[in-house]
Amino acid sequence: MLQLENIEKGYNGEPVLRGITLTINDGEYLSVMGRSGSGKTTLLNILGGFLPPESGRVLWDGKDVYAMTDAETAYARCNKVGYVFQGFKLINTLSVADNILLPASLSDLDDTRVRANFQELTRELCIDTLLEKYPDQLSGGQCQRAAICRALCFEPSLLILDEPTGALDVENEKRVMVLLRRINQEKKMTMVQVTHSDAVARNAGRVLTMSDGVLV
Ligand SMILES: Nc1ncnc2c1ncn2[C@@H]1O[C@H](COP(=O)(O)OP(=O)(O)OP(=O)(O)O)[C@@H](O)[C@H]1O
Ligand SMILES: [Mg+2]
Repeated sequence: MLQLENIEKGYNGEPVLRGITLTINDGEYLSVMGRSGSGKTTLLNILGGFLPPESGRVLWDGKDVYAMTDAETAYARCNKVGYVFQGFKLINTLSVADNILLPASLSDLDDTRVRANFQELTRELCIDTLLEKYPDQLSGGQCQRAAICRALCFEPSLLILDEPTGALDVENEKRVMVLLRRINQEKKMTMVQVTHSDAVARNAGRVLTMSDGVLV
């Protein structure tokens, strides 16, 4: 279970999150909507253990994420959290295949499972013909699908997706939505996604909106 307790965060004295309290159950698929600049990415970064809040606590299974030791944080990053960043953050000096396999190689998931996931996901996301290419040889939508594949390949228990279909055409958007639902149901993976699309938001089981620094 994930819990946010009265989270506050701002930048340069300007408040962005004004006391967010939220519980996300294991295996839940949640959408967060809200206008540009309302703090959605900030919230995801705090939830994922990447950005300490100014006040409040983030608990993963009752454990305070920002009070963990460095070793616990490193272990969680390698095994627990998959993150599809708004700007993808692929590594330009690695091929698409190596981008996808690098986090998986740092995780505890055994090689056979990683290989099976890799084959299945690259095929399902239609990037199996792009594996030897480098990120700067890909379109934005192809990079986005590679980033989704990378985040899923090591079977994290929490998947964070920041506008995961923002660069995709309708057909690929549908493909990603079907894939996320299937994995959410089959693997009971907890998913938190930010989106500006009503259709993508409804793919999840619960939809919340960021408004004036709180979720409604
Ligand atoms: N590192 C930072 N330093 C200063 N201000 C920041 C920083 N990151 C975000 N902000 C500001 O905080 C506010 C919320 O930003 P955030 O990226 O969380 O919004 P968002 O809801 O994800 O927007 P979008 O839909 O455009 O991605 C914005 O006003 C932004 O300018
Ligand atoms: Mg954002």
